[in-house]
Amino acid sequence: MQAILNYIEGNRDRYLNELTELLTIPSVSTSKENVPDIQRCAEWVAAHMRGIGLPRAEIFPTAGHPIVYGEWTGAPGKPTLLIYGHYDVQPAEPLELWTTPPFHATIRNGNLYARGAADDKGQVFIHLKSIEAFMRNGGTLPVNIKLLIEGEEEIGSENLAGFVREHKELLAADLVLISDSSMYARGVPSICYGLRGLSYMQIDLMGPNKDLHSGSFGGTVHNPIQALTEIIAQLHDKNGKVTIPGFYKDVRPLSKNERNAFKKLPWSDKKYAKELGVRQLYGEKGFTSLERVWARPTLECNGIWGGFTGEGAKTVLPSRASAKISMRLVPDQTSARAAKLFERHIKKIAPKTVTVTVRNLHGGEPAITPIDSPGVVAAVAALEKGFGKKPLYQREGGSIPIVVEFKELLGLDTVLLGFGLPDENSHAPDEFLNLDNFYNGIKTSAHFFDELPRFLPAEGRLRAGKI
Ligand code: BES
Ligand code: MN
Ligand code: MN
Repeated sequence: MQAILNYIEGNRDRYLNELTELLTIPSVSTSKENVPDIQRCAEWVAAHMRGIGLPRAEIFPTAGHPIVYGEWTGAPGKPTLLIYGHYDVQPAEPLELWTTPPFHATIRNGNLYARGAADDKGQVFIHLKSIEAFMRNGGTLPVNIKLLIEGEEEIGSENLAGFVREHKELLAADLVLISDSSMYARGVPSICYGLRGLSYMQIDLMGPNKDLHSGSFGGTVHNPIQALTEIIAQLHDKNGKVTIPGFYKDVRPLSKNERNAFKKLPWSDKKYAKELGVRQLYGEKGFTSLERVWARPTLECNGIWGGFTGEGAKTVLPSRASAKISMRLVPDQTSARAAKLFERHIKKIAPKTVTVTVRNLHGGEPAITPIDSPGVVAAVAALEKGFGKKPLYQREGGSIPIVVEFKELLGLDTVLLGFGLPDENSHAPDEFLNLDNFYNGIKTSAHFFDELPRFLPAEGRLRAGKI
């Protein structure tokens, strides 16, 4: 291991320069304009896999953006680790709020600022660099490695489950490793054992068949923006609870043990509110902030539009209004059921004055990994070595829908080894990856490969059905 760690130490600058290059590619998955960049990014990642010595690295086209797959399977009898991540990124807009350009990575205060620095290119790169360290120092790894790096995570991974279903044999493994989440705080490594699910909906309201003069018609026709906001305003009660009937029915109550464990974590509501710039926090009565974000379902309006929003004034009674609304879900809720309850409720409370359409845009299921599973135990040991500190256990409010599908389709548990930070500005201007986390992450990844065979049954699984 010492040679591996020395190599990582000796190549710090080159590693950083290479990540900087990856971060120049604007692989924004949601915009058509960036399709060539997505392709270029997939090719960059595949070429990099070959460059670090992986004997197999290829691009699988899908109906959407390509999937990059790489492997090194030279350790028969040892466990096989499937590393999942994504090379696509969120849009960088609003550009004017970035201190330095989003696709020109810049270091400030020990952080590397760029779109995708933390979510998720930087975290994928951490594993590529630890693999390189093994490949360049003896050419073997303590475990078999399969890498599955997709380009549609930020837009709902539409083609990923299908790919996994069709390539069960290729992806057969003993454990999934994902680095696409955050540590609890700066200098506080953590193991994430829970993610929320998601149900993402759109409501479209149609009022009059065309925009109307608000003077000539205002007073006789229900304004669709008004109707929409009346609907949205009804979705929470005065205690911050979601009012959709049945919404909480499948929610697994938090155990006393887990509530106590959350309470032991260092936390200040005051500091949190101040950092976010809100005058006061808001949320479901009867639960702490950590419980609200990690273990309670919520409903958010992500965006709302309609009518005139240009400069100056235009008197108009608009024909249409729309909103995007998402629900974060916890075990044992399902996205399909949440979507159904949502649609039924909206249709029920919608006034007769407008036509309402409800669409289900995408969904994903909540996930929990048992903290005594072998992968988690190995990850705890690796984090302790990589960061020089015992990690703590946490859940996250975000979603990685494929986690549950890995379990269902491949029978695999997932370890979430996050190297981001809670204030990393993912999906926002000035996203960054902390450089200490980058380098300690690479070491942790190397230690994880090294520790894993000690904790996972040694038989290994390279191909489905062959144990
Ligand atoms: N890396 C995040 C998931 C995440 C966020 C994990 C915060 C832990 C904490 C991922 O890239 C993401 O943004 N996922 C989407 C899910 C989606 C589009 C289905 C999310 O959570 O909104
Ligand atoms: Mn991500
Ligand atoms: Mn994301």
